[in-house]
Amino acid sequence: MRYRILSALVATVAVSAVHAADPETYDYIVVGSGPGGGPLAANLARAGYKTLLIEAGGDEGDNPTYADLANFNEAANDEATRWDFWVKHSEDPARELQFHHTTWDTGGGTFYVGNDPPAGAKHLGIQYPRAAVLGGCAMHNGAVCSLPQDSDWDLVVNKTGDTSWEAHNMRKYFKQIEQNDYLAAGNAAHGYNGWLKTTAGDVSWAKNDNWTGVRIMKKMAELTGQDPTKVADLINTDILADDKNRDQITSLYNMVQHAGKDGKRSSPNNYIRATLADAAKYPLTVKLHTLVTKVLFNTTTGMAAAPPRAIGVEIMSGESVYKADPKHVAGTKGPVSKIYASREVIVSGGAFNSPQILKLSGVGPRAELEKFNITVVKDLPGVGEGLADNYEGSILALGAVPVDAGLITMIFRTKSAPTKNRNIFTWCGAFSFEGFWPGFPTDYGPNQWTCAMVHIGPKSRAGSVLLRSADPQDTPDINFRFFEHGGDQDLKEIVEAANLLRESWKAAGAPAAPFQELHPCPGELGKSANCTDAAQAEFFKLQAYSHHAASSCAIGADDDKMAVLDSKFRVRGVNGLRVVDASAWPVVPGAFPVLPTMMLSQKASEDIIADAKKA
Ligand SMILES: Cc1cc2nc3c(=O)[nH]c(=O)nc-3n(C[C@H](O)[C@H](O)[C@H](O)COP(=O)(O)OP(=O)(O)OC[C@H]3O[C@@H](n4cnc5c(N)ncnc54)[C@H](O)[C@@H]3O)c2cc1C
Ligand SMILES: *[C@@H]1O[C@H](CO)[C@@H](O)[C@H](O)[C@H]1NC(C)=O
Ligand SMILES: *[C@@H]1O[C@H](CO)[C@@H](O)[C@H](O)[C@H]1NC(C)=O
Ligand SMILES: *[C@@H]1O[C@H](CO)[C@@H](O)[C@H](O)[C@H]1NC(C)=O
Ligand SMILES: *[C@@H]1O[C@H](CO)[C@@H](O)[C@H](O)[C@H]1NC(C)=O
Ligand SMILES: *[C@@H]1O[C@H](CO)[C@@H](O)[C@H](O)[C@H]1NC(C)=O
Repeated sequence: MRYRILSALVATVAVSAVHAADPETYDYIVVGSGPGGGPLAANLARAGYKTLLIEAGGDEGDNPTYADLANFNEAANDEATRWDFWVKHSEDPARELQFHHTTWDTGGGTFYVGNDPPAGAKHLGIQYPRAAVLGGCAMHNGAVCSLPQDSDWDLVVNKTGDTSWEAHNMRKYFKQIEQNDYLAAGNAAHGYNGWLKTTAGDVSWAKNDNWTGVRIMKKMAELTGQDPTKVADLINTDILADDKNRDQITSLYNMVQHAGKDGKRSSPNNYIRATLADAAKYPLTVKLHTLVTKVLFNTTTGMAAAPPRAIGVEIMSGESVYKADPKHVAGTKGPVSKIYASREVIVSGGAFNSPQILKLSGVGPRAELEKFNITVVKDLPGVGEGLADNYEGSILALGAVPVDAGLITMIFRTKSAPTKNRNIFTWCGAFSFEGFWPGFPTDYGPNQWTCAMVHIGPKSRAGSVLLRSADPQDTPDINFRFFEHGGDQDLKEIVEAANLLRESWKAAGAPAAPFQELHPCPGELGKSANCTDAAQAEFFKLQAYSHHAASSCAIGADDDKMAVLDSKFRVRGVNGLRVVDASAWPVVPGAFPVLPTMMLSQKASEDIIADAKKA
């Protein structure tokens, strides 16, 4: 194999052999190969900088579970890459126990999922899957692409004064990375020469006027002010188009995913491998199966007032050394060594691991670090705070027969939305999706019918990622504190959406009707006596789930003590260290974070290379 992907063993030998006299040194070290770190490392190497990309997982790029997008549910369940974080949604233990898919350890690698655990089962919490693999969660996700709201970008300008974040300036990063595989060349809103393939679904089914799904879709259009006679065209609307006032447009859309039209997943994995394989021999090295345990600092930088400088990382080599890995064997450790960066260290471990790595390195809230005897390098109270996520919920029913339909995607505004912006991204179809737990999703058989909803613009950012110990092999303690601020308003919006979508199902007609709703209002569709808004709000409060964690090391203003990063992704109060991944977002970007985070990575690449040229 001509790739310079070093196995953990080779890497360890190489480091220890040269360490004393000539420590292993790169220009840049990037920690984590997901949508934040992966493209960034490739870009730095392509700009000529000697770059090391460190990834805790392995490379599954050729494994069909990951390579074929249709297998995404298997991928997210696969032990080969799965990191299980057992999170909380609130401080209230009683509320946590009412989550229908709360999970218990029943020993020997088995789980019980539900509210009536067998005796002796140990409560774990809510499974929050992450992929430890080359390409990060872009290798097991649903690959759904949508752009942030313009206000999500403009907020950074407001907070930091950095006008390079203005929304109108951001599309260029999307165009740089996109390799559009669904629209004829020449569409000015899109890119055709980037590394990320995008594809859209086949929506020709929508022309079959006698299909149940078309009747439902027409009703969805009618209820949201669209022309029901045009649904076959509306459902081919480009969800990534550059429409003026895009955030205010309610429309049916064709779902876009990061894949080729051949159904092969496209992700940072492809870009990293293409960079390694390029005949230009870009100076990129990838170390797989390597856990970064901390960032190393030089705190004796000469001048008394000079901030500490990141100079490298400490690593633990070996597979499954992190305890989130279900394959981890208790007590197993790997060899520990150090690698140095002459320019910068960039942490891109994702919204859970980036704050953990910073804290383990002495960058974080002083009291928390001191509790674990971690030497404080920089007291930065915002690290691990402000964690936020899109709230998700679904309404699920069984038809009397299978519902003939393809996928119906719509973004719309519910009537009490606080701004003019649309606030719900829904996709409806003959599938079930109720969140995450070991073995998800439940198969309710061929008659299952779901509208899954992602709420846009959660009003709360009250979650936290806290250390459990100073042991880098430990997982952090994660609590999202859902609905803590503005929760009643967010729940109201979600209930309005559920009511509208349920109303559309009533147009299904025979033979699919009557639907039996499973939740939130069990019973024959529309006949449930207790299907009040209050009861549904309570259901979604307890059963909402999420998988777009963001904002745990957020960009913020100079005078905001909770700001972790400046607008150039630099960690405040230290030199030579940045965070580039979903944790940098000051708000959850739009409905789906993966494409926005890849755009952010592209922007960071430009910023970092510009700084290097200045120096
Ligand atoms: C099941 C699932 C489905 C999803 N579906 C969608 C979707 O359809 N559309 C969408 O927009 N978003 C989706 N998401 C979310 C999206 O994939 C993430 O927001 C995105 O991948 C975040 O990118 P990131 O770079 O911040 O972190 P990650 O993708 O988590 O990447 C972080 C990488 O860092 C590595 N790492 C972490 N700690 C260390 C360490 N200490 N040492 C070395 N390496 C380390 C990890 O192994 C990982 O590879 C989904 C997420 C999940 C879990
Ligand atoms: C930015 O600030 C301006 C002026 O105060 C305000 O009108 C606008 O709504 C703000 N935008 C965002 C996204 O915060
Ligand atoms: C729809 O109508 C076409 C043409 O009349 C027919 O062939 C097809 O079987 C019908 N499909 C359904 C699902 O009823
Ligand atoms: C730390 O910085 C000082 C001042 O620049 C330098 O003399 C010293 O060699 C550095 N130490 C390390 C370990 O890099
Ligand atoms: C921190 O150090 C003190 C003094 O050595 C020790 O008593 C304490 O147990 C340590 N705490 C932790 C969490 O390791
Ligand atoms: C309505 O009542 C049924 C039966 O008691 C219950 O299972 C269901 O959860 C209730 N629905 C709501 C929305 O509270």
